Amino acid sequence: MPAGSTRVNGAPVDLSEVPDDERLLDTLRWRLALRGTKEGCRTGDCGACTVLLDGRSALSCLTLTHEVEGASVTTVEAIANGRIGEAVRDAFIAEGAAQCGYCTPGFVVALTGLLAERRASTPVSDLLEEMGGNLCRCTGYGTIGRAIVRAREAIR
Ligand code: FES
Ligand code: FES
Repeated sequence: MPAGSTRVNGAPVDLSEVPDDERLLDTLRWRLALRGTKEGCRTGDCGACTVLLDGRSALSCLTLTHEVEGASVTTVEAIANGRIGEAVRDAFIAEGAAQCGYCTPGFVVALTGLLAERRASTPVSDLLEEMGGNLCRCTGYGTIGRAIVRAREAIR
C-alpha cells in the first residue's frame, strides 16, 4: 500500500507494513493506537467496531486494511470534528445514553454516518431500525433511542 494514500482521521498513514490478512479493526487499535474503536464479536454482529469509510458506516472487523487503500477513514476519536458527529456526541451525552460505554463509539459513528447519508428527514422509526445492527448489553436502548431522536432534531 503506497504511503500516504490512505487517511485516518485526516492524517495520511503508511500502511505498507500491514499483512494482507490484517483487519482494519486491528490496524486501528494496535498499529495506530486508536482504541476508541471497540472489538466485540469480530463477526459483524454487534456494531462496536463501526468506522466511517469515505463517510459511510463500515464494520472494521469485517474489512481488510488493504481494502481501504485510498479511502478516508474516520474513527470515533475524530467523529465530533464534523457538525453531524458533534451533534450526535452531544446528544448521547445529554441523554446519558451510555452505561459501561463499550457500545457507545459504534453507536455514535454509525448514527453519524446514517444521518450524513440520509439527512434528518429520515423518519425516526427508520433510523431506529437501521441502527438495529448496533447492540447494547446495558442500557435497554431507551436512552439510546432518545439520543438518536435528539441528534436528528439537532441537525434539522
Ligand atoms: S466487532 Fe465488528 S461487528 Fe462486532
Ligand atoms: S452501554 Fe454497555 S454495552 Fe452499551
